[in-house]
Amino acid sequence: MLEVSYEWDRLAPPRSLREFETHWSRRGDPHSFSGVWRFHALLPFAPRGDCVTIGEGQTLLQRSDQVARYVGLDAGRLFLQYEGMNPSGSFKDNGMSAAFTHSRLTGAKKAACASTGNTSASLALYCAVTRLMRAVIFVGSGKIAYGKLSQALDYGALTVQVAGDFDDAMRRVKEVSQQLGIYLVNSVNPFRLEGQKTIMFRVLEALGWEVPDWIIVPGGNLGNSSAFGKAFRELLELELIPRAPRLAVINAAGADTLYNLFEHQGLRWNGGRPDPLLIRQYYEDMDRQQRRAETIASAIEINRPVNLTKCLRALDTCRGVVREVTDQEILDAKAQVGAGGLGCEPASAASVAGLKRLVAEGVIGPEERVVCILTGHQLKDPTATVAYHTTDQDLFDKVLGSRGVRRATFANRAVSVANDLNEIIRAIELYG
Ligand code: F0G
Repeated sequence: MLEVSYEWDRLAPPRSLREFETHWSRRGDPHSFSGVWRFHALLPFAPRGDCVTIGEGQTLLQRSDQVARYVGLDAGRLFLQYEGMNPSGSFKDNGMSAAFTHSRLTGAKKAACASTGNTSASLALYCAVTRLMRAVIFVGSGKIAYGKLSQALDYGALTVQVAGDFDDAMRRVKEVSQQLGIYLVNSVNPFRLEGQKTIMFRVLEALGWEVPDWIIVPGGNLGNSSAFGKAFRELLELELIPRAPRLAVINAAGADTLYNLFEHQGLRWNGGRPDPLLIRQYYEDMDRQQRRAETIASAIEINRPVNLTKCLRALDTCRGVVREVTDQEILDAKAQVGAGGLGCEPASAASVAGLKRLVAEGVIGPEERVVCILTGHQLKDPTATVAYHTTDQDLFDKVLGSRGVRRATFANRAVSVANDLNEIIRAIELYG
């Protein structure tokens, strides 16, 4: 695994985070408008004028007292960082703008990724808008939500459905990219992570540059958590923040490699020497038992996270913890997020479900200031949402019951009425 590393003493890093505020008055300049490149001084791997942007990172931090109440935090202590507002509807655009900036330096003509849907949607969009490369995407068959698949198809990506799951597609795309010399944009690509650091810069910016107590993020391929750790490591090194927040990475219970290795088997960063034997044995057992990732949160349905060791480093920097949450907890949390404002896709709600657990355990106190990252837009996975709120028991059983979800505690069910004015009025008076 490669990492981008800067010789700060030969660069011009900011002396205070407040320096970034000067960009707000220059929104006509695309690099000041971009929520990634206005922080260029903290990811200066290419000249500012060469950086690729399609307007990513116009995201917001929403205070949500309703969701705070649900998870057991005091009012005013929970903030949701809504990355669904990116051009392709997920946080991936932060990383894609950085990967495209680097790929342009290499002169690559084709870019590929394996994806549970959002990376492929983002890659396809950046290709369509910039025309810099042709997109080749690998997806597991039947494994990605329709919102995301529809984006890749609409944006014109060459879509390769591999008979298998994400972990299979990931292995193949690495082989294919190497053989054909295609630029790989999965988060093994260290430039992706540079772009994703800026999610944390925007969180700090929205909090008036104050460091929150906790950052909570869903864990799939572990690119985001790794990027967040790097962001805080560098901000500490540059003495731009007094301390790092604590980090909680939340796995789905059906895709919980990090949780098992970190919380049960004691795997640690260990000063840059995590125990390779622990990891190897874990994967060997998994293969022997033919265990496959399985969760309604298809974005994080991943058993072999490529950034595992980088994430261990982030957990080390940020005194992190890892938890797992069931599909039931994820969907209930998602319904609460939806009812409280902006909405998100299932994987994103894992962060809120994980927070609820950590508050119940007493790891997070009700007065602590917490930021959950909502990684993807509500419209990414309409099937999961409709199945949760449906009155159609067959649909519920097919989509959710089959995954062990028993209840839709917070369902907002549609009311069926005859096409009759009086009945419609009666229904509104009864339920409205
Ligand atoms: N949330 C969403 C909405 C995602 O799409 C992903 C990853 C994650 C969380 C997990 O982030 O991998 O950095 O730990 N989606 C990838 C994809 C794997 O292919 O779109 P991570």
